[in-house]
Amino acid sequence: MKVVRTAADLRAALRGELGSIGLVPTMGAYHAGHRSLFRAARDENDVVVASLFVNPAQFGPGEDLDRYPRDEARDVADANAAGVDVLFVPDREEMYPPGFDTWVEPGALGSVLEGAVRPGHFRGVATVCLKLFHLVRPTRAYFGRKDAQQVAVIGQLLHDLDLAADLELRILPTVRDPDGLALSSRNAFLSVDERARALALPHALQAGEAAYRVGDDPIAPARAILEAEPGLSVDYVAVADFDGPTLAAAIRVGSTRLIDNVRLAGEDSPSGRMS
Ligand code: PAJ
Repeated sequence: MKVVRTAADLRAALRGELGSIGLVPTMGAYHAGHRSLFRAARDENDVVVASLFVNPAQFGPGEDLDRYPRDEARDVADANAAGVDVLFVPDREEMYPPGFDTWVEPGALGSVLEGAVRPGHFRGVATVCLKLFHLVRPTRAYFGRKDAQQVAVIGQLLHDLDLAADLELRILPTVRDPDGLALSSRNAFLSVDERARALALPHALQAGEAAYRVGDDPIAPARAILEAEPGLSVDYVAVADFDGPTLAAAIRVGSTRLIDNVRLAGEDSPSGRMS
């Protein structure tokens, strides 16, 4: 695996590549969710490129940019073991040089739920992803359904900016711990007690999904479970159309913010699944 740190070296590493390229954008602190994306990209493409960049543009003031988990040496080893061919690890100045001043502004999809709680978040996500798409020119780009709204925003970007014909958006299911908690780099922040409380999130989504299946409102039972758990605060519980009807929720446990979702169409239940 080649580790490259500049756009020029990335282009050089891919120059003359005629086969298919799978791109996996990431912010590092790899877990089995990331590895499932690497594996799919490895299975489906000739060349696998991953990016490792904690993108400052998608963090708001007072968010966890400074304490976001970073362990480059471990991530390099993990990506290598997962069959990544080229790992792009730019620094902030490489992606946003002095004077950088052009942004991709998602519309309505980027301003509800996560976008409402984190203004500017999807602008940062969309901008960095578009830059990565241009730098790598991938055949396929891999995203996790764990971040369902992000997937929807990227899908709309590909469509609106005329990239969809040349770039296939591959969406992979949420990887969970056996007890149902969705894997997240931010789970590392949870104390044992907080992790136990955080389980209310997949439980709430399961209850919402069960209610929906029998024709009832999915939001009320999900919210009731979250509100009954001491030490949690609820940012939102909502149904949105992210590639089909999706029950999405965000909570705070102590100082950690967690998001999760379940597709109400059916096949992605948070009932506990290992990678
Ligand atoms: P990051 O949080 O590192 O996630 C990278 C990719 O892994 C995303 O597509 C995310 O949805 C996926 N992922 C995270 N947890 C997962 C899980 N439990 N199961 C399956 N997939 C999972 O998302 C980002 O980085 C950034 O916003 C990025 C797209 C890289 C832009 O900066």
